[in-house]
Formats: sequence, structure tokens, C-alpha cells
Amino acid sequence: MNDLNALPANFTWGVATSAYQIEGAVSEDGRSPSIWDTFSRAPGAIDNGDHGDIACDHYHRWREDIALMKQLGVDAYRFSIAWPRVVPGGSGQVNEAGLGFYDRLVDGLLEAGITPFPTLYHWDLPQASQDRGGWPVRETAEHFAAYAAVVADRLGDRVRDWATLNEPLCSAWIGHLEGRMAPGLTDLTAAVNASYHLHLGHGLATQAIRAAVPGARVGIVNNLSPCEPATDSDADRTAAVRADGHTNRWWLDPIHGRGYPQDMLDLYGVDLPERPGDLETIAAPLDWLGLNYYFRNVVTDDPDGPLPHAKQVQTPGRRTAMDWEVCADGLEQLLLRLTDDYGARSIYVTENGSAYPDVVKPDGTVDDPDRARYLEEHLAACARAAGKGAPLAGYFAWSLLDNFEWAYGYDKRFGLIHVDYETQRRTIKGSGHRYADLIRSSARATRKAA
Ligand code: IFM
Repeated sequence: MNDLNALPANFTWGVATSAYQIEGAVSEDGRSPSIWDTFSRAPGAIDNGDHGDIACDHYHRWREDIALMKQLGVDAYRFSIAWPRVVPGGSGQVNEAGLGFYDRLVDGLLEAGITPFPTLYHWDLPQASQDRGGWPVRETAEHFAAYAAVVADRLGDRVRDWATLNEPLCSAWIGHLEGRMAPGLTDLTAAVNASYHLHLGHGLATQAIRAAVPGARVGIVNNLSPCEPATDSDADRTAAVRADGHTNRWWLDPIHGRGYPQDMLDLYGVDLPERPGDLETIAAPLDWLGLNYYFRNVVTDDPDGPLPHAKQVQTPGRRTAMDWEVCADGLEQLLLRLTDDYGARSIYVTENGSAYPDVVKPDGTVDDPDRARYLEEHLAACARAAGKGAPLAGYFAWSLLDNFEWAYGYDKRFGLIHVDYETQRRTIKGSGHRYADLIRSSARATRKAA
């Protein structure tokens, strides 16, 4: 594929996962329950009553999973560290056994020549912290920073790139306002306070990581979507501005030192729990920005609907099993917006991928041409953005493995590698082989150019 030529020579090719979605072993070696262990037991919360008790059993099969990454030829692995394994009470006592797991994982990755890219929080808050108020209360941000310091102290001699939070939008809006994710609340005040303390936790953790690891490169991972009006009407255009505020600006402005967007503060009507100095902490300069991209939002005004009173309309494009439209242009658009409007100096696409109902054929292979095409189109969008000046440093395919897709359980398969949950057998899908080809040819092109 020649259209990937504009990707930079030192482009990082990666794959991503998260702890609760793959590890299993939820009660092993001192791990305490997280809010997802609790939420997944709530009647009706998760399709088929699924939960993460075993998931991909990665806690026991990580060596095999590293070997698979090596087979794909990836440069880097983005994974998350489970706070309830490391500090089971949320604060206080450190659990050596839990920390030891990540210590071995990092060593194993480095031995395989794969750069570890840990994320400190991918939604699995210790239930003990939730019981003390969770993200809506300030102490959770402080405890998060203390946990970050513990991990950075232990792994910082080998890990350079750190992400604080994954998709705080989902934690705050989906978890506290829409109730479709843990902790399952539908409370606007709690949601706004959670968003604020997630940001504060990010800022405090950034300071803690930098104090523990000189030369650390710290970033945050946001899921963003271009928001477009369904029609040219004033009402739809204003709805798109609100959707953009809710989805993008609320999450980008404060970390870039712009404070919270006034139009959204007015819309939510909730006072922020702000203390002097917080906004500076939240805006700690970033070494890189992580962008998770899946879909765009085309919206129509919905005055009586839920916040932000902008209803997503069905667009005519191809769709994945999540019913998400395939729209690679949206990725290019966001990369350019982060560059031009927010002055990003280094961006990773920290997640991008698609779910399809894959099956293992009788000959033992998995054909998933739709996912391979999705990958190619989105990588081409990355290359177009890089060609127009976006400082794109790498791309992490979501996901290495099929895994626990939160409220959708195990039915939605995002992996480059198929997982048979009965046997835990892993099979590299056609898209995984295609990804490996793209990585190999980009390495060849780089060698040629050198
Ligand atoms: O599986 C999730 C991941 O945990 C966060 N980003 C989106 C993915 C697909 O829904």
C-alpha cells in the first residue's frame, strides 16, 4: 500500500488491550474487586450475563500472548495496569504479587523487543474506592496519583511511555450519567464531578510519574468523534456544537490550559469542585496525546432528549457489528484538529478497530476482510493526516485479542486474534496477517529510504 508512505520513518506499530477485558484471574494473588466486577453482576447490565472472571485468561497466558505479538511484528504493546491488583484497597497497602505480574510482563515484552506502553486507568476502579465515593470525590484523584507513583517507581527503570487515563469520557459520561457502564449511575452532578476529578487525577498522576521517572513521557488517551449536523438547520448546527462540547472540547480544553468550555458549564449547570491551582495541575504539559477513534457523530437537535440534547442519526455508510459507521475520514479530521487547534506535538492513535462476527472455519483460519479493509482505510487516513503535518508517532490496533467488550460481553469481537473462550485457543485472523504485512512493508520502505 503506497498510500502509507507519508507515515514517519520511526512510526510505532502497536496493538492495545486493557486489564479487565483480557486478564481474568479476578481473585488471584490479592486482587480486590473492581467496579466492573460489581457492575457485571448487576442483573441485565451485561449482554448474556457475561463478566471478566476468566476473559482471555491473559494473566496466565501472557507469555503466549507476547509470542503472538512477536509473530505480528509489532513494535509496542499498549496494556493497562489493574489498580485493584496493585493497591487493592484503592489507597494504602501495596500488593507485591499484583505488581509482580506487571513487572514480569514488562520484562517479557522487552525480551521480545516490544516496547511497553502502560495505561494506569482503564475503568477498573477498586470497589473499595467506589465505596468511599469513587471519582465524584476528590480523594480518588489523590489516591490515583499515589497508585501511579507506586507503579512508576517499580516499572520506571524500564518503561518510558505512560498513559494516565483511558477515555475519561466513558468513565464520567457513560458510567455516571448514562448508567451503561460501571458504576452505573445516572446523576449529572456525579458525572460532572467525576469528569473533574478524573482530570485532576490525570494531572496529579502526571506529576507523580515525572517525579518518580526522570525522562518519562506522559500522555492521556481520549476518545473523540467529529460532530456534524445532520442538516443545515440552525437547530442542528447548534446541536452539533453541543455534541462537540460534550464529546471533544470538555475533554481537550482543560488539559490544554483552556479551562472548561463555558457553553457546556452553562448547559450542565453544575458548579465544578474547583480549588485554587487545580486547573494548572490539570493542564500539566503533555509529552503526547492519545486518540482513540471509532466513529463520527452526525446529530440532530433533540431538545427533550438526554444531554447534550443532540441525537445521533443513522448515516448511510458501512457499519461494524457495533452498528458504528465506518468513516476513516473522521480520523484524519481529528488528527488535524489536534494538530491545528490544540497544537499537539506528538499524537498516537492509541486505539482504532472494528468488531465483526468472526468464525473459525473448518480449516482453522478466520477470514475477516472487512476488518482488514477497515485497518487499511484508517491507516491511510493516518498517512494523509501525517502528510498534512499531523505529528503522528504511532498507531495501536484495537485489539490484540477478542475480549470482554464491556456491556456487550464477549459477542463483539475486536481482535486481530480470535479467541475461543471455551478452549482459550488463539487464532491469528486474516486481518492480523494483513497488519503484519503492513508492518513488514513499512519496515522495508524505511530501510530502503535510509
Ligand atoms: O473495548 C473498548 C476499549 O476498552 C475502549 N475503547 C473502545 C473499545 C471498543 O469499544
